[in-house]
Amino acid sequence: MIIAITNQKGGTGKTTTTIGLAGAFGEAGRQVLVVDLEPQANSTRHSGRAPEDQEETIWTALQAAGQLRNMNLGAEDLRAILDDMWESRSFDLTQVPIVRRPNGNPYDLIPSEIGLSDADLMLASAVGRERRLANVLDGVQADYDYILIDCPPHLGILTLNALTAAEGVIVPLESAFFASKGMNQLFRVLIDVKQNQNYRLSVLGVLLTQIDRRTRHSPQIAAEAREAVSKRLRVFDTEIPVNVDLADASASGVCVTLHAPRSRGAEAYRQLAREIESIRYGKEAYPRH
Ligand SMILES: Nc1ncnc2c1ncn2[C@@H]1O[C@H](COP(=O)(O)OP(=O)(O)OP(=O)(O)O)[C@@H](O)[C@H]1O
Ligand SMILES: [Mg+2]
Repeated sequence: MIIAITNQKGGTGKTTTTIGLAGAFGEAGRQVLVVDLEPQANSTRHSGRAPEDQEETIWTALQAAGQLRNMNLGAEDLRAILDDMWESRSFDLTQVPIVRRPNGNPYDLIPSEIGLSDADLMLASAVGRERRLANVLDGVQADYDYILIDCPPHLGILTLNALTAAEGVIVPLESAFFASKGMNQLFRVLIDVKQNQNYRLSVLGVLLTQIDRRTRHSPQIAAEAREAVSKRLRVFDTEIPVNVDLADASASGVCVTLHAPRSRGAEAYRQLAREIESIRYGKEAYPRH
């Protein structure tokens, strides 16, 4: 299942959720691929990889996915490709740059780089610009139980690519800064993509993050956010607490379930993984620890 973790607002916990959830699924024996679709490359760093050292990245793959006409194809290849229109949904021209188990983390990674910030400009007039990522993932999808896409904090071409490739969406929402206007904008984009681009898309849930039980009002704000959002979208029962181990894990280069296995942050992402599997398969699907 391909899941986009998205919210156009910055700092809502998209990257923390992508890596936390990847770690929890990986620990439970699921095959997981993290796609860092964000030019700041925080998921890449969180996985112990320096973005500037990566030769092949999601950006090189997205570009290659559209370079059919620049390739040195003979007449027979072209014939085969054009004949094949009923059979295949994409052409296997892209070497997908997967890093296996980066830094010992229990998932694979397609890293990002700063060059990805050119995507909006460079893909603006490209044919099939929203489908590039779907084409890249087509060939590797069968190898994974979960492909988690960490999206950038705006609703540009990269987020559209993620929503076009995905079957499920998780929207991390920092409830202390709950803003319904932003949610409405995201909501419209999701409906637009579902109607015009990708009918399989569904919202797995809105995830309330950075809940601080020590302050008196945060749980109350969380409850209000839950009530308001749940009129339109499913809200996960799982809530992610403020937990310093989650912030520390990102600096340590491993997921929180490795960095601090007994922490509240690690437990919260395990619970989220269980909740997602119970939404998919029913209550008893997830192995107990
Ligand atoms: N539950 C949490 N407890 C403590 N710190 C957190 C928690 N969630 C996120 N953080 C910290 O808050 C900051 C923002 O989180 P994160 O990078 O996951 O957000 P983001 O939505 O990916 O941001 P961006 O929009 O910039 O990509 C990070 O420094 C992260 O370590
Ligand atoms: Mg991020």
